Amino acid sequence: MHHFEYRDHELYCENIPVRTIAEKVGTPFFLYSHATLKRHFLIFDKAFEGLKRLVCFSAKANSNLAILKLFVNLGGGLDIVSGGELYRGLKAGFLPKTIVYSGVGKRVDEIDYALNTGILMFNVESLEELKLIDKRAGLLKKKAPVAVRVNPDVDPKTHPYISTGLKKNKFGIDTASALKGYQMANELENVEIIGIDCHIGSQITDAKPFQEALASLKSLLNEIKKMGIDIRYLDMGGGLGITYDDESPPHPREYAKAIVESLKGTDLHLILEPGRVIVGNAGILVTRVLFRKSGPTKEFVIADAGMNDLMRPTLYNAFHAIKAVSAGNDRMITADIVGPICETSDFLAIDRNIPDVKQGDLLAVMSAGAYGFVMSSNYCSRPKVAEVMVNDDQFYIIKKRQEYEDLVAGESIPTFLNS
Ligand code: LLP
Repeated sequence: MHHFEYRDHELYCENIPVRTIAEKVGTPFFLYSHATLKRHFLIFDKAFEGLKRLVCFSAKANSNLAILKLFVNLGGGLDIVSGGELYRGLKAGFLPKTIVYSGVGKRVDEIDYALNTGILMFNVESLEELKLIDKRAGLLKKKAPVAVRVNPDVDPKTHPYISTGLKKNKFGIDTASALKGYQMANELENVEIIGIDCHIGSQITDAKPFQEALASLKSLLNEIKKMGIDIRYLDMGGGLGITYDDESPPHPREYAKAIVESLKGTDLHLILEPGRVIVGNAGILVTRVLFRKSGPTKEFVIADAGMNDLMRPTLYNAFHAIKAVSAGNDRMITADIVGPICETSDFLAIDRNIPDVKQGDLLAVMSAGAYGFVMSSNYCSRPKVAEVMVNDDQFYIIKKRQEYEDLVAGESIPTFLNS
């Protein structure tokens, strides 16, 4: 359930018509419902009630400070993959001891930043990384808390670009080498092994792959125990899918049940890294129809939002429902909804049945709260769009639309070119 609903054929976000916001902030813009964000976080967290747990929201899904701050307020932690995300997390107010750091390519400066911050745990993805973390911790006179990110080789049955737990994927350390990792970590002076981690992919719509991954982690845990290593944290990563179209992913309660059952009898502190399931359906992208055009074989709706604003359709062929902000016109058309960018890959939807919208009408691209704004770019020198959060009948601009000046910020023309 989310708070984007029609009242008298007008799309509302909580208690404000989307049209009202569009008239005030211009288009395109991302629009988030505070009530939905909060509800999704609490449902997810509550699903694990009774267990020692930390829900570390995955910053990559949506890293706007206002959204991060909401999860700070709700008692969440943060899952990061870069120094930039650490910076945002600290700015939003996350305590260092609620931050976990994954990623196959951590740079020295990023490792140092995290060590100096005192984060909860590094999820280590290679033996070389483990050695580097040990070395940097030694130099900084710190002890680095680590978990090995295990690649359990399970098929999450999702888009190949967002599968991460197959042995052919670059992520984590395979189960055989993971033991070597723990052995090595055990002998290193400046790391403290505290956890085990996996993340098998994203937009997963079945609980089974999670259970398979957990089974694999549990048998590893037995081996690790035999080495005399005490593991306190088990990080299950993120990946729970959402409904974009007709998918029926498990409810967070079913997902939790699958995990909790497999964890019975252990005293592990569970870490979860949900992203999409919390923010995906809490946000939409609002865009205006610039033109209609009929080609010999296709009908086109040309919108003012393009692939630089929402990459997912182009990159993954992802489906996002598209609705008319003012509904009530029953005449339907089949059209490609495209953006203004000079590429054929610039589309929001292909051969889509939508209401017969006309120039100036507003469209809502649904389920755009996760991996929307964060993946947007300035391609074609298009300023990044605004982000807006609604709370009941008020709205707040949580990120200003960029101006032309922002596009050239930091650029300079060397003097030799001016002579
Ligand atoms: N933890 C780790 C280590 C991750 O790599 C990810 C996502 C998550 C947690 C959060 O996963 P979620 O709960 O959101 O599925 N851009 C793609 C999704 C890429 C996901 C990358 N990793 C998309 O738009 O579908």
